[in-house]
Amino acid sequence: MAFPPYEKHIFICNNQRSAGHPRGCCDEKGGSELRLAFVEALDRRGLKGRIRANKTGCLNACELGVAVVIYPAGTWYLGVTQQDVEEIVETSLVGDGIVERLVAGPDSWERLASMRGLPEK
Ligand code: FES
Repeated sequence: MAFPPYEKHIFICNNQRSAGHPRGCCDEKGGSELRLAFVEALDRRGLKGRIRANKTGCLNACELGVAVVIYPAGTWYLGVTQQDVEEIVETSLVGDGIVERLVAGPDSWERLASMRGLPEK
């Protein structure tokens, strides 16, 4: 195995909260199944061992989840569903591009702050 062992990681929020929690959680939006879909998509391309799909706890973007972040690029995607997996894999994991329609930007964080009643920065 070469080191570092992985060229890229994709972290998929699988956090679970009780039903009715004000922030909700990514797992109730399909986070666990989404991670498995990424694992399978990477396996199909022979990328196991080069790119890793990890489950993660809360990424603090709950209301806009499922939240996903890719490193080392530091690309955040929000509202990710199974329908987005192939496009994200091809664009941001096989390639180094960005899926513009899903990427989080300043407006995403402002929207999240507004949803939480926090002052905008
Ligand atoms: S529960 Fe997924 S970002 Fe918080």
